Amino acid sequence: MCGIVGYVGGGNVYDILIGGLHRLEYRGYDSAGVALESPSGKLSVYKTLGKVSNLEAFCKDKDTDASVGIAHTRWATHGEPSDCNAHPHYSEDGNIAIVHNGTIENYKIIKDALTQHGCTFKSETDTEVLAQLIEYVRVTNNCSLVDAVREALKEVIGAYAIAVIEKDHPDTIVAARQSSPLVVGIGDGEYFLASDATPFVEFTDKVVYVDDGQIAVITRGEPLRLLDLDNKESNVDVKKLKMSISQLEKGGYPHFMLKEIFEQPETLRDCIRGRVVEGGKRVILNGVFDNQEKFLKAERIILVACGTSWHASLIGKYLLQDMCRIPVEVEYASEFRYSNPVIIDRDIVIAVSQSGETADTLAAIKIAKKMGAFVYGISNVVGSSIPRETDSGTYIHVGPEIGVASTKAFTGQVMVLTLLAVCIGQLRGHLNAEQVQKLGEAILKIPAYVKETLKLDKTIERLSLIYTYAHNFLYLGRGYSYPVALEGALKLKEISYIHAEGYPAAEMKHGPIALIDSEMPSVIIAPKDHLYDKIVSNVQQVKARGGSIIAIVSDGDETISGIADHVLKVPDVPECLTPIITSIPLQLLSYHIAINKGKDVDMPRNLAKSVTVE
Ligand code: M6R
Repeated sequence: MCGIVGYVGGGNVYDILIGGLHRLEYRGYDSAGVALESPSGKLSVYKTLGKVSNLEAFCKDKDTDASVGIAHTRWATHGEPSDCNAHPHYSEDGNIAIVHNGTIENYKIIKDALTQHGCTFKSETDTEVLAQLIEYVRVTNNCSLVDAVREALKEVIGAYAIAVIEKDHPDTIVAARQSSPLVVGIGDGEYFLASDATPFVEFTDKVVYVDDGQIAVITRGEPLRLLDLDNKESNVDVKKLKMSISQLEKGGYPHFMLKEIFEQPETLRDCIRGRVVEGGKRVILNGVFDNQEKFLKAERIILVACGTSWHASLIGKYLLQDMCRIPVEVEYASEFRYSNPVIIDRDIVIAVSQSGETADTLAAIKIAKKMGAFVYGISNVVGSSIPRETDSGTYIHVGPEIGVASTKAFTGQVMVLTLLAVCIGQLRGHLNAEQVQKLGEAILKIPAYVKETLKLDKTIERLSLIYTYAHNFLYLGRGYSYPVALEGALKLKEISYIHAEGYPAAEMKHGPIALIDSEMPSVIIAPKDHLYDKIVSNVQQVKARGGSIIAIVSDGDETISGIADHVLKVPDVPECLTPIITSIPLQLLSYHIAINKGKDVDMPRNLAKSVTVE
């Protein structure tokens, strides 16, 4: 994780870097720092524990005049969050400063070698080791910073996006990427550099996505250069950025999470647009139609993902099995990559990831590709690593998700998986025209039903007051509602720090039922579906043991409404579309409980939005 920013140009360097750090704070907020170089070549580093606002307070009385600078917001990996471990790190002689997102796996060996050459280290980080290594190479070889970075990186094993500046060179940033994201923005007489394009969206729409193994040499007044580690230069492919500033602001909501929850009718509309056509008669995903042969011949689908994206993938399994009658497996990417997986060339591996940068998911993709599978990506961030690494795929198009707890990306992922299942189902002849039309029409109505469901907000806000101080929660569901239960529990854990467990409702009697008493609330997801009568029994089992029940049911429900303590009624939709609807009240419940507890919902402790480390 971590976010890095760089700027060279005529603008206010410090303000641009700080603004960029705020945008990237979703990537980590253990500490923040800047390295600024004055027009005369003086290099100053300011850094401090905590959020970017702490850094701003710290810099208030400092000299921040600069013509080039780099900055960092940290999610700690090597070394605890502290002032000393904060980035930028600099070489012992103070000649270079560096910011880094990633992990250097062999840093210990390099550190030992450098120590033998007399280097001493202030921090516990792998990044300081890289700073010292680059400077050691530069001094020993008496070479330029670019050559020193190139040579140093040849010795490094691990993941990195780095930006380096050097004393007395107030016009240049040298950056490099391996398995961590890095984008350059080209403005009018200025260059930006960041982990994603959000820090410079208001300044330019011209972007260059740096590839793995590339070094970017950014010099004021000169064209951008991209080199590989062997000094071979490659073409600079400038792309147009499609992102607007309003997408990155709170738009009147107190938190990004709430804004993103309420955006869902619109984001789902964007997700469906152009994909469900002719009033629902046809569902088109170009990524599938351009690769029909692969989808026709596929013998198995394996979904790989992490966290919320894994929950969406589990819903994808139910959808693909139901509509395509194909065997489907769902794997945690972090387990899959080390599980010695059996993959054949008729497997399709689908990687699901909001950020498109999750390290475990990327590693799983690489393995699957190497073993001959066709790999399909479902991501949100355009131009991120996963869409670039996969053979084909679909964007969910829900716009930037800033809140660390995923909400609109989850429903977008589920929607794309639904479209995918319909698409493959019709292609493989398991869905006839009438079935496709019925599903297509129902999908088109979903944004309106989500809007309707959001009207529960005030009811949920009141309800949340009753449960704010519960220490544990159970979330129960069956069939399509089981992954929704897992996701509801994760949302609560992430932002309110209340322990919550998601469970298949019928499994409860095999153990967790022992936990039920008046202190253990259960959230039961029980829309009208083919398992409704079954879950009624589970609801009764909880009630019989004195547990309180919050039930999410469909409009018109009577049975569970007569048993549960609190009932939240949502629009009645076809079974395969219930997860998108039933997850909305769970997002709101976790949001309000966390707010009641005074938690920072957009930046929950210990988390980061994009997990680019193992
Ligand atoms: O960007 P990704 O979808 O690959 O991220 C996967 C998980 O890190 C992510 O879903 C995480 O669990 C979120 N904090 C959930 O709200």
